[in-house]
Amino acid sequence: MRTIPRSWLFVPGDSEKKLLKTPETGAHALIVDLEDAVAPSAKANARRMTRSWLEAHKRQITMRKQARWVRINAVDSGLWREDLAAVMAGAPEGIMLPKAEGPEQIRQVAAEIYELEQRNAIPNGQTRLIPLVSETPRAALTITAYMDASMPRLAGLTWGAEDLSAELGASRKRDEAGQWTDAFRFVRAQTLLVAHARGVWPIDTLYADFRDEDGTRRAAEAARADGFAGMLAIHPAQVPLINAAFTPTENELAEARAIVEAFATNPGVGALQMDGRMLDQPHLKLAKATLGID
Ligand code: COA
Ligand code: MG
Repeated sequence: MRTIPRSWLFVPGDSEKKLLKTPETGAHALIVDLEDAVAPSAKANARRMTRSWLEAHKRQITMRKQARWVRINAVDSGLWREDLAAVMAGAPEGIMLPKAEGPEQIRQVAAEIYELEQRNAIPNGQTRLIPLVSETPRAALTITAYMDASMPRLAGLTWGAEDLSAELGASRKRDEAGQWTDAFRFVRAQTLLVAHARGVWPIDTLYADFRDEDGTRRAAEAARADGFAGMLAIHPAQVPLINAAFTPTENELAEARAIVEAFATNPGVGALQMDGRMLDQPHLKLAKATLGID
């Protein structure tokens, strides 16, 4: 069974210092960024550094179970093919595609990855893909297109608020109570629903104010409570908060075990009661998910 990475830490691809720090961050997955975190003049250098980092951390990172992902530049940037050609030599676990416009772009990138897997002796289909599905208004309105299209490399869906808010000219993303405003709630819900409908990981977006520990913790707890499989991060300080939020408590584990046991001792029974609570198949499904089984 593939274990689900809960914390996904972005690391600028041109920062040697930050790349060197990655093993001690505790992030389940690292996303080395070649896109918005890298200035246009530094793109070529970032590609080279990212490739060396991928190669250097191949063994070490696998042992620590830190997945190595790379965010390439968008399809309309004119940079993505060169990005891919450079980083595929380091055999990353996956590629994140920013400003994704739908399944057609995923297929285009997947076809290029196929060629590069062959050239680099990487098993065909090993490299996974995660699109950022919400960075333009049009993309945000067509997230459901990811539901049924054939995209065997698709590992998950994630979304971002920064680019969309710039496109909208929105001066705020959250209201006075700290809740996402309508456009962002819409996108977040669609990302969650479509990923579940398709059976891939829904990954919640980052909490931008990384010095705000309470805010990050609340966002991570909300992500898990709402059904996301993981969450993006931009600073190492956010990683333990996300990992903790996605770790079931002792009480949750005990209750989940009790539910699974109750059904196991009543085979063939669809609904039963435990301490005056009705339990049926959705409860069993949730309990198994909490225990990480099935
Ligand atoms: N990955 C790895 N290490 C990181 C890191 C990251 N994303 N962010 C910070 N660090 C390191 C710093 O290098 C510093 O190391 P040191 O203690 O050895 O000096 C330490 O963690 C503390 O960092 P801090 O001083 O608090 O922050 P900073 O000013 O160095 O960096 C940011 C702040 C926002 C620039 C940085 O967190 C960052 O680059 N984040 C990712 C940005 C990104 O990739 N964006 C694209 C997706 S939206
Ligand atoms: Mg961006």
